[in-house]
Amino acid sequence: MATHKLLLLPGDGIGPEVSTELLKVVAFMGEAGVAQFEIEKGLVGGVAYDTHGQSISEADMTLAKEADAVMFGAVGGPKWDAVPYDARPEAGLLRLRKDLDLFANLRPAICYPALADASSLKREIVEDLDIMILRELTGGVYFGEPKQIIDLGNGQKRGIDTQIYDTFEIERIGRVAFELARKRRNKVTSSEKRNVMKSGVLWNEVITALHKREYPDVTLEHQLADSLGMQLVRWPKQFDVIVTDNLFGDMLSDVAAMLTGSLGMLPSASLGEVNAKTGKRKALYEPVHGSAPDIAGKGVANPIAMIGSFGMALRYSFGLADAADMIEKAISSVLDQGLRTPDIKGAATSTVSTVEMGDAIVAALRKGA
Ligand code: IPM
Ligand code: MG
Repeated sequence: MATHKLLLLPGDGIGPEVSTELLKVVAFMGEAGVAQFEIEKGLVGGVAYDTHGQSISEADMTLAKEADAVMFGAVGGPKWDAVPYDARPEAGLLRLRKDLDLFANLRPAICYPALADASSLKREIVEDLDIMILRELTGGVYFGEPKQIIDLGNGQKRGIDTQIYDTFEIERIGRVAFELARKRRNKVTSSEKRNVMKSGVLWNEVITALHKREYPDVTLEHQLADSLGMQLVRWPKQFDVIVTDNLFGDMLSDVAAMLTGSLGMLPSASLGEVNAKTGKRKALYEPVHGSAPDIAGKGVANPIAMIGSFGMALRYSFGLADAADMIEKAISSVLDQGLRTPDIKGAATSTVSTVEMGDAIVAALRKGA
């Protein structure tokens, strides 16, 4: 049985609670003989700031670089509102993405039939939805320089962020999009704002040329990002893979999350390039939901997104697609049994705790779902 090295960074807010449930599923995979996982733990976000004065320490960055995959909980909370900008909790996450060159962020939005009523949209619009938002994660306005606030000296200040994309950055994310589409329903929707942004004009040109050159068998369409936001809530099932930049991807993936019933349901994978020599790629897996400080410590957080993120690790880092399918089936089965954490309560009359949901998923895995 292969042994893989995981670095677990639970982080802040509900991160530690959902990480505890994740560990039960990791242990199950060992017991079931699927694969053995060696787990190291580190600090990220506010807890790292409280301990080291920075949102991730150099030692933990080294562990992240050495790990086969990083499992990340969540960062941030009002407690750290006043810390210096460079040491804010989110900076730890951004540094991990940038320094590990995790340019491809996969955010699947799947609506389980049992949850269609938990969405704020009508059942027929979201039921059986299965789309993939692919967000470029290491470029664009998140990292472009200059990024600063300058004093104009006349009582005015100027805030500047810079949106930058080079050809290679657009090409490599485009390739991931087309490859994903070929294994799904063979359609890519590329999104930018070419009507107002030069980076959008280039994005459109590069994706179009790449499609023509290497992926003519895949259906490609382009949609302006504002219009795409509208279409996502109007008729989301028209999409298969949506590929877009860092900022639009941040926004559109939150919109897509709500189609599935709750932000608590969405896993994600952030992937680097495959190393030609080792065949391995750097990767970080995290729930999309964030630290949810309002419910932290109450034992009511939904662990499904975190557990689903481990499922993505099995699929994309360890080539264990069958085990990933097992996790998805187990999640589906506990939902069919009617188990609900408060965020996906819908019309249900009772809810379960974080621990109860985690235990139920492990029980479903034991039973073979
Ligand atoms: C996300 C989050 C992050 C982002 C924050 C926490 C920096 O919103 O992963 O979607 O903006 O990328
Ligand atoms: Mg976000």
